[in-house]
Amino acid sequence: MERNEKRYYITTYGCQMNIHESEKLAGILTSLGYKPSENELNADIIVFNTCCIRENAENTADGNIGALKKLKKNKKDLIIAVGGCMTQQVGYAEKLHQKFPFIDIIFGTHNLENFKALLETKLKQKRTLIEVLEKEGEIVEGTPKTRTSYPNAWVNITYGCNNFCTYCIVPYVRGRERSRMLNDIVNECKELVAEGYKEITLLGQNVNSYGKDLGVDFADLISEISKIEGKFRLRYMTNHPKDLNEKLIIALSKSDKACRSIHLPIQAGSNRILKLMNRKYDRESYFEKVEMLRKYMPDIAITTDIMVGFPTETEQDFLDTVDVLKKVGFAGAFTFVYSKREGTPAAKMDGQIDESVSKKRIMHLIDLQNQINRNQSKQYIGKVVEVLCEGYDEKKDMYLGRDTYGRMLYFNGEQSDIGNFVNVKVEKTGGISLVGQKV
Ligand code: 5AD
Ligand code: SF4
Repeated sequence: MERNEKRYYITTYGCQMNIHESEKLAGILTSLGYKPSENELNADIIVFNTCCIRENAENTADGNIGALKKLKKNKKDLIIAVGGCMTQQVGYAEKLHQKFPFIDIIFGTHNLENFKALLETKLKQKRTLIEVLEKEGEIVEGTPKTRTSYPNAWVNITYGCNNFCTYCIVPYVRGRERSRMLNDIVNECKELVAEGYKEITLLGQNVNSYGKDLGVDFADLISEISKIEGKFRLRYMTNHPKDLNEKLIIALSKSDKACRSIHLPIQAGSNRILKLMNRKYDRESYFEKVEMLRKYMPDIAITTDIMVGFPTETEQDFLDTVDVLKKVGFAGAFTFVYSKREGTPAAKMDGQIDESVSKKRIMHLIDLQNQINRNQSKQYIGKVVEVLCEGYDEKKDMYLGRDTYGRMLYFNGEQSDIGNFVNVKVEKTGGISLVGQKV
């Protein structure tokens, strides 16, 4: 490898928001002349973009950072930077510095745009640089991005969260909700479509409350983006049931860009638990939203997030969750075992649930959901669906992509299909995913 070029390697944990923020970090590094490295060994700077939503996300990052001690010892000029949600927690940066003194830069979620300045300062001095701002600032526009998920492009629409679900650390590490100006978002989308991106995914902790601070709403944004000429798909995540209203559902149903899928986390099926979680809706109103979605878009695929083992969850509460799964018929469900997050109200609640109980409950949910998805997959056999080809799977030796419902399909394709819409006839199911032939 040509060694006069400086190389970067970024490891990202957590959600799509973090994936996109790593694209911004990569953009900043690219603007400084760095090139991507295929591995940590050949990198001049290694960045960890961390997550703290559940304890295991933290433990994994912690282990991987610790493992770099030897590399850093043998390569004195190597820069190691750690940022993201984990470091944004109160007192965490100092703890991390004590534990891993070889880290060069520790930064939080509120100063990502300042990473260029941090790195430049670090290159001039020896000591560890810690900069974790307590409060969120104004939205910064124009940060360079090195996008990594063509034909999809991530676009931020809101930052932060005001909901304070009692289990969730996000409002503490991401600050209050702030919306990007509608025009900035629409212009970014226009540029992306002009550059050839075929799918745009709008990102926010709760996209449905977009614009509350600006006097516009998410329905307006969907309508404006849908006016952009050219063929592309519009996705958005994540949604909060309490903010999903008829105006928005109508805007989605009228849009020829918005995909026929929505991620609508329910978290629990028991009204008692939903109240303790501070979710601000009950199972009945969730069902009403599902009904309304299906009234305007009968074929819409609804996916969800579900948690088991929230403090005081009884067997009956859990059975209420099972019941929701059976009633709604989700196209997919991400299931989680509740993880105690220091500083959140739920961490102080009595009645923390034994892990063995939670494990049993989650296994039950996963089995049930798999069964539901396998049955749904069978309905696809013989149908022709339009797939946006995303890439090639080496193990399967097949190309892959998704339909408007978000279902993954594998098919015999070619390199030139990547980034294009292709019609695929579904021949068989591969568990939850589908396998077919291009037609
Ligand atoms: N423990 C387990 N799961 C959590 N989530 C958020 N906080 C926690 C926690 N403390 C889940 C929620 C959310 C998803 C992104 O992560 O289901 O929707
Ligand atoms: Fe967390 Fe609730 Fe905000 Fe989602 S809506 S980020 S679960 S506090």
